[in-house]
Amino acid sequence: MIAFQKYAEVFSAYAQDQLTDQAPENLYLPIDYILSLGGKKIRPLLAILGRNLYQESLEDALPIAYAVELFHNFSLMHDDIMDDAHLRRGKPAVHEKFGINAAILSGDAMFAHSFAYINRGFKNDRLFDALQLFCNTSIQVCEGQQLDVDFETRDLVTQDEYIQMISYKTAVLLSCSIALGAMTGGASDQDTKSLYDYAINLGIAFQIHDDYLDTYGQSELVGKKVGGDILQNKKTILWIRSLDKGFKERIQEALAIKDDSTKINQFLEIYADAGADQFALSLKMEYFNKALKNIDTLDIPDLKKEWLYQFAQNLMDRIY
Ligand code: IPE
Ligand code: IPE
Ligand code: MG
Ligand code: MG
Ligand code: MG
Repeated sequence: MIAFQKYAEVFSAYAQDQLTDQAPENLYLPIDYILSLGGKKIRPLLAILGRNLYQESLEDALPIAYAVELFHNFSLMHDDIMDDAHLRRGKPAVHEKFGINAAILSGDAMFAHSFAYINRGFKNDRLFDALQLFCNTSIQVCEGQQLDVDFETRDLVTQDEYIQMISYKTAVLLSCSIALGAMTGGASDQDTKSLYDYAINLGIAFQIHDDYLDTYGQSELVGKKVGGDILQNKKTILWIRSLDKGFKERIQEALAIKDDSTKINQFLEIYADAGADQFALSLKMEYFNKALKNIDTLDIPDLKKEWLYQFAQNLMDRIY
């Protein structure tokens, strides 16, 4: 069995001792709250996996793993305000529970702390490269989030624009996580680049799957309001495919519907008629297969390539 379970245990043992008993309480309570809601921990696992491809000892990847999970949770806190989403991981979103100001400022604090943990994770001459990558990633996530919001009010968004948007808002953080983990393990520049590309493709597949689950998942499992993307006029892959298949007029009519469940049902019918659900699943597999090709280019033993394969497979099969 691959060591993902062990990664999760090592990470959670490390995480429970971080950022505890900090003041002021009202800044740190929302941070404790969102971190206590769990989540899949994909990014820290990727950071630890990146290291483990090159080193047996995992410890030196832990500050990095914590940094990327903090950053991710910061982005979720702000994302839920932006998306007017009330549920996160099956519980009230931070701004619902503590108010918008708290969610903004606690998110900002997590953002800054995440950089401090990157700093802690690299004591050698790779710190400069690591910080550069983390800065670029942060900027791209903001750019992706802005595109996501801009697209809400646009009638036409192409598939290429969508892929660009999700690469930035989602995939680059997965890439940054595995690349930084690999850097702590002494990976070559070429391997670091291949791992980065692997996680970009995996991240694109992951966000397509996220879009799919937002419409077709079960709320109890995904922990979000199913249909939330439809209500926010998000330009998901389902929407884009339906538009590409010529359903523009029906989409325009559905957009004008005021009642939430009628609007969701109308979009479900359009997506079914356009075959958008099947298209999303096949596009997801396309990017999954690209990620597998990236694995082939790595200079690591086959057994370790298998770990990367398994990690990708687990993500593709998720129902939450
Ligand atoms: C949710 O990410 C936001 C996206 C980028 C799709 P995850 O699905 O990894 O969220 P958690 O951490 O497991 O809750
Ligand atoms: C979130 O994308 C991406 C970031 C937080 C950077 P989504 O808005 O699709 O994530 P969920 O569906 O709310 O988790
Ligand atoms: Mg969003
Ligand atoms: Mg959201
Ligand atoms: Mg989503």
